[in-house]
Amino acid sequence: MTLDELFSAAREAMAKSHSPYSKFPVGAAILTEDGQVFAGANMEVVAFPEGWCAETSALAHYVMGGGGQITDICVTAERLDECTPCGGCRQRLAEFAPADARLHLTDQKGITKTMTMAEILPLGFKTEILSK
Ligand code: THU
Repeated sequence: MTLDELFSAAREAMAKSHSPYSKFPVGAAILTEDGQVFAGANMEVVAFPEGWCAETSALAHYVMGGGGQITDICVTAERLDECTPCGGCRQRLAEFAPADARLHLTDQKGITKTMTMAEILPLGFKTEILSK
């Protein structure tokens, strides 16, 4: 699985977005160290707060598919180059992705910027805290 293929998986997921209200399709794809890819798109609901983000859909597929060590995440949006995950999705991604997992942002042609989970959520609420 190359990063180009991860980008393609995010693009294919974005094509399945249900975003009739914002008309802002987003796709996300999560890669695990054993080469599995879990993708998702944003899903909107007419009662607006009930919709959810592409990253959240991808995470649901990841968990239901058995999980694994996350190495890379790619987020893409049709109408915005380098669409960064919202605050809630950063915390959701951090629930499962290690601090050194790479987050790839894109334009319409491919990955343009790469950062780590630690960089996008530097002071996140840590999952270990409740087990202390
Ligand atoms: N959205 C995502 O899916 N991921 C993000 O990181 C940012 C925003 C979606 C939510 C909503 O369906 C649309 O983009 C407009 O906010």
